[in-house]
Amino acid sequence: MPDRPAVLFVCLGNICRSPLAEAAMRAEASRAGLDLLVDSAGTGHWHVGKAPDRRAQAVAARNGIDISGYRARQVVREDFLHFTHVVALDHDNLARLLALRPAGAGAEVSLLLDHVPGRAGEAVADPYYGEAAGFDTTWADVTAGARGLVARLSGFL
Ligand code: 4NP
Repeated sequence: MPDRPAVLFVCLGNICRSPLAEAAMRAEASRAGLDLLVDSAGTGHWHVGKAPDRRAQAVAARNGIDISGYRARQVVREDFLHFTHVVALDHDNLARLLALRPAGAGAEVSLLLDHVPGRAGEAVADPYYGEAAGFDTTWADVTAGARGLVARLSGFL
């Protein structure tokens, strides 16, 4: 296990929601002065090696963050040994993660919005097939989740 919190965000493609969660988490942790390892991955393999969706890059840029250098990867069983927290963006991906998790792995597995007071059990909706404005909702959701996680990992929650 790592000597500092290590958080992996997981969605389906690793090109929309989880890269935005990664970016929001980096920003919130940096603001809070919290030393963290942060990464993201997808349960699916279709977009491996690709940069985030243009609409995800655009909403990150509108919020002052460049994610054009991120590249998609698929989650692997070893991730449960290297990360302290594996955080799913929705219920389908949570179920896939729980099925993949090796017996005895120490990583805590949760939904991102479990970390937002009043929103436990909610999913971050998949914006991929929707309107561009859906990405603003995604950004608001992942920012709320990142703030909750940072508060908890800082020992304040
Ligand atoms: P993500 O969005 O899981 O938030 O990265 C999606 C990206 C690609 C697909 C679905 C969702 N897809 O079906 O290719």
